[in-house]
Amino acid sequence: MKKQLIAGNWKMNGSLVTNEALVNALAAGVGSAQCQIAVCVPSPYLAQVRGLVSGTGIDVGAQDVSVHESGAYTGEVSAGMLRDFGVRYCLVGHSERRQYHGETDAVVADKAQRALAAGVTPIVCVGETLAERETGRTEEVVKRQLAAVVHTNGHCISEIVVAYEPVWAIGTGKTASPEEAQQVHAVLRAQLRAATPKADRVLILYGGSMNAANAAQLLSQPDIDGGLVGGASLKPADFLSIIAAAH
Ligand code: 13P
Repeated sequence: MKKQLIAGNWKMNGSLVTNEALVNALAAGVGSAQCQIAVCVPSPYLAQVRGLVSGTGIDVGAQDVSVHESGAYTGEVSAGMLRDFGVRYCLVGHSERRQYHGETDAVVADKAQRALAAGVTPIVCVGETLAERETGRTEEVVKRQLAAVVHTNGHCISEIVVAYEPVWAIGTGKTASPEEAQQVHAVLRAQLRAATPKADRVLILYGGSMNAANAAQLLSQPDIDGGLVGGASLKPADFLSIIAAAH
């Protein structure tokens, strides 16, 4: 059976000192974990965190990747550079990138393609806003977001990780109920099944105010294969509780 994946998204948080304390606390507590574990860290800390997690079984992820391969793109970080630093995962299309940096479905699809070509697994984030949910458009929105990635990546689509992150649940303390989340995950699974015979291998993570108290129920849903955890991933005890709830 596939192992669930619990990925922390530190967002723009951390420092050399606090990262070391956080990773060391995690490393001390993950011994009996049944799931896969990753931390997606700000780019300047990739090298530091790669060193800290060495031998712990925790993987390192980035939070974004350039749509370009190389060249005159000041400030950008390429997929090849991430690979150079032993990065296993890269978030693409996080709602904060879509919202604050104007990332379109097409850009997200191209970023996923760059990551895959470099041997980095893209964690493709999809999710509806509150207004979209309230007007009954949730399925339409997440299907449109995933369709772009399927279209661009063809048969490689079974190599991605998907994260369903309802925008209204991110950082708000409001979580989709396990049934609400499962319903959307089932829609995404069906869409993947139509694209690849290997759809059941694809991990579909839930993200949005996942915490120590709600993780077990969310992670027991048939199509929820892990979590993408923001705030709670910065607190070792909370993140370790989520990891302990996963299998
Ligand atoms: P929170 O867990 O803080 O709601 O963040 C979720 C998220 O955006 C993870 O990518």
